[in-house]
Amino acid sequence: MSRKSHPHESAALHVSGEASYADDLREAAGTLYAAVGMSESAHANIRSMDLAAVKASAGVVAVLTAKDIPGINDCGPIIKDDPILADGLVQYIGQAVFVVVAESYMQARRAATKAVIDYDELPAVLKPLDAKAAESFVAPPMQLVRGSPQEKLANSPNRNSGTLSVGGQEQFYLEGQISYVIPKEDNQFHVYCSTQHPTEMQHAVAHALKLYFNQVLVETRRMGGGFGGKESQSAIFACLAAICANHLNRPVKLRLDRDDDMMITGKRHCFEYDYDIGFDDDGKILAAKIEMVTRAGYSADLSVPVATRAVCHFDNAYYLSDVDIAAFCAKTNTQSNTAFRGFGGPQGAIAIEYLIDNIARILGKDPLDIRKINYYGKTSRNTTPYGQTVEDNVIHELTAEIEASSDYHQRHSEIQAFNKTSPILKKGLALTPLKFGISFNVVHFNQAGALVHVYVDGSILVNHGGTEMGQGLNTKVAQVVSHVLGVDLGIVRATPTDTSKVANTSATAASTGTDLNGKAAENAALKIRKRLCDLFVERFGGEVDDILFADNNVRNGSHEISFNELVEQAYLERIQLWSDGFYKTPELNWNKDTLTGRPFYYYAYGASVSEVLIDTLTGEWKLLRADLLHDAGNSINPAIDMGQVEGAFIQGMGWLTTEELKWTPKGKLATHAPSTYKIPAVNDCPDDLRVKLFDNKSKFDTIMRSKAVGEPPLLLGFSVFFAIRDAIASVADYTQNPELNAPATPEAILSAITGLQQP
Ligand code: MTE
Ligand code: HPA
Ligand code: MOS
Repeated sequence: MSRKSHPHESAALHVSGEASYADDLREAAGTLYAAVGMSESAHANIRSMDLAAVKASAGVVAVLTAKDIPGINDCGPIIKDDPILADGLVQYIGQAVFVVVAESYMQARRAATKAVIDYDELPAVLKPLDAKAAESFVAPPMQLVRGSPQEKLANSPNRNSGTLSVGGQEQFYLEGQISYVIPKEDNQFHVYCSTQHPTEMQHAVAHALKLYFNQVLVETRRMGGGFGGKESQSAIFACLAAICANHLNRPVKLRLDRDDDMMITGKRHCFEYDYDIGFDDDGKILAAKIEMVTRAGYSADLSVPVATRAVCHFDNAYYLSDVDIAAFCAKTNTQSNTAFRGFGGPQGAIAIEYLIDNIARILGKDPLDIRKINYYGKTSRNTTPYGQTVEDNVIHELTAEIEASSDYHQRHSEIQAFNKTSPILKKGLALTPLKFGISFNVVHFNQAGALVHVYVDGSILVNHGGTEMGQGLNTKVAQVVSHVLGVDLGIVRATPTDTSKVANTSATAASTGTDLNGKAAENAALKIRKRLCDLFVERFGGEVDDILFADNNVRNGSHEISFNELVEQAYLERIQLWSDGFYKTPELNWNKDTLTGRPFYYYAYGASVSEVLIDTLTGEWKLLRADLLHDAGNSINPAIDMGQVEGAFIQGMGWLTTEELKWTPKGKLATHAPSTYKIPAVNDCPDDLRVKLFDNKSKFDTIMRSKAVGEPPLLLGFSVFFAIRDAIASVADYTQNPELNAPATPEAILSAITGLQQP
């Protein structure tokens, strides 16, 4: 019943094409279509804007600008620096300047290109390091220091310093951003939106239209992927569609074309690192100093919490006694970067992995040995730089298991032998670990609500504040309810997410969807079970504690009744058969000024081993085999969790290898479609992929002792990058550290090879 690999609740609908996404909803009569007019300058004051040709374009009904927004012209999630429509000042190429509404989708898009805008150009800052030099930030810099890193560095027997660049990443959800807004009676609005955060969309639309929150209903049945890209950045589209619907009093749909979507919305933050590390002759890290400069883009969006998570993941699985971690959110005239699976965690952790890799080659050792001697201890050497004690550490056992199951040492020797006899094709191998903190690093976001309805026929409807984006949240929450009430999963149905059902919800993000909403739904189901138990005892005697709900029956030692019959009797007795439920994660505290506290309830762990083959003449490479071992605690649904692990691994690999964002010298994103931006395809997946969930149970009281699984396995992709670096290092007999930045495209690989001094 529970903890079983049930298919995704919508699996059949997905594969048959019947699952309806926002664009599939039957349209209301009179629906119009909107398109966005974008800035063509990276930084300028708008001198004048001639929209006559847009208005005259076929099918156009209205063209709206900032002055047509009745409420606040802002949709920023935290700091209010995100205009919905530029008002005089443009800050990146792609920024929304006006919105045009037409009778058809194509008419709106054609019209949007016809504006004549006269720009008074201002200097544009296009690179994070230039922004840092100019002290142009979207928020004050942050710094976390523990111990005496400066002194320890000075006294270290070995030292390594340098720089590293890691690129950004487009979320590339298959379903693009979309909102469909239908005006209702008495100035109310129904917003169908592909979003991870219906409540924030409700707030943004209400602010833009100057309404109370109770006048706006946001509904999300499912997304065709979000990956963080719809945590905050669905807001501009919800607001634009709502502004148009309000202005015309007609239903308006705004569906983004892929190019426009990539041009307008933010991506994973790219990072520039400057590091200095001290270590002893065994490779134990004595001190580390790192400066991380992230590309925030033109506005703050979620950059501060992203940078905070990066700071809190620089340790990854390693104890760092003396550290100095600084992060700068650089303000550039580019898209405003945002959440992407891992939310800064991968960017923090990859830096320490790079340093460990460096240490190994400097000392002539296997990087795995360096990793292991720096791992957090179980009872000592177990406090993070931000002061949280690591209480659930399983990285030692997990590493030992994958080391054996992947045959790491045998293959390591074979690869070194192969490389001696193969002058052009080189193989590489790497084992990388991960530790990932679970909880929003903003304490109050860690709450959730649910509603469970048991109908008189015994069928059950579950509503919760989380959103379904393909990750299987609805399936897992339904499994929780089916477990508590002891009924078949088939009788439990999840409803669309709806701000009129559960209020004040958090984003489905930080991998906490099942942790939070599963607990809230459990809480609701337990209240109903308690009422049914009381009735059972009243009818049949015995103790409440002896009653078992299982196999669609309710029983104790002497009596048994079907769940449906008991429900029917409860209804006749006028017992409430539906309930709300609520949950807040315990034990969290965080001081954002000192960057210390307990930001995470617990940690998830994992490790992967990748073997690659590179061509040293072309820089092309192939992933030959990957072994993944991931800790999902006591998994509620192993099949779904394994799907998350595989998907995240491949997505992490794409980030670090093929996906490259490039801007023209004027600041225009040049890679805004799959023709120029390469996400991994089925051919990039290794023929030999071995995925296993680590046998574990959460040490903490998580939902059914499971662990969050959405984001952490993205870090499994690290092993591909470091296997490539290992293969490159073989060219100089592993005596030098290749200067390889991410993404490790063929160009980057070739450049790293040519950068080596030939032995
Ligand atoms: N899986 C699919 N199929 N589609 C997605 O958009 N988003 C990821 C992850 N897995 C995503 C996904 C991200 S960024 C997060 S935070 C989590 O799912 C959110 O869902 P959860 O908290 O329910 O795991
Ligand atoms: N993840 C995703 N979204 C967030 C977080 C986080 O850790 N913190 C604040 N918003
Ligand atoms: Mo996920 S990046 O927290 O939406």
